[in-house]
Amino acid sequence: MAISLTVNRKPRTVDVEPDKPLLWVLREDLNMPGTKFGCGAGLCGACTVILNGEAVRSCQTALSDAAGKEIVTIEGVTASPVGAKVVEAWTALDVPQCGYCQAGQIMSATALLTATPKPSADEVTAGMAGNVCRCATYLRIQKAIAEASK
Ligand code: FES
Repeated sequence: MAISLTVNRKPRTVDVEPDKPLLWVLREDLNMPGTKFGCGAGLCGACTVILNGEAVRSCQTALSDAAGKEIVTIEGVTASPVGAKVVEAWTALDVPQCGYCQAGQIMSATALLTATPKPSADEVTAGMAGNVCRCATYLRIQKAIAEASK
């Protein structure tokens, strides 16, 4: 069944099983490998994308739930002013270590700052909850979010 969705402002149509996770549709069917597979169980945040303005775990999002919706991935995040500021801050503060989780971190931070341009420390903690970093770059992530919110 052909399913249409918008990815990074471009209309896309895929013809795969409707229950296929959005993560694998992006990676395998739309050739967008920036969104990462970590746990596949909604626990790590590596696969985070923005769906109609909300950070979601794409490994837990069926393609059918994304039908007709606007998806932003790491490949397109800098198209929005907030996303561009987040990536700029991430680069300036040299946030990543191994880098594997960082696409998901950036997507969560972008969704957070889009909804809440000047988040409190508690709001940052809540907005970034569930985005795990095995290299423990959390302090730099917090600093980059503070920088991007200026
Ligand atoms: Fe989706 Fe870990 S891969 S939350």
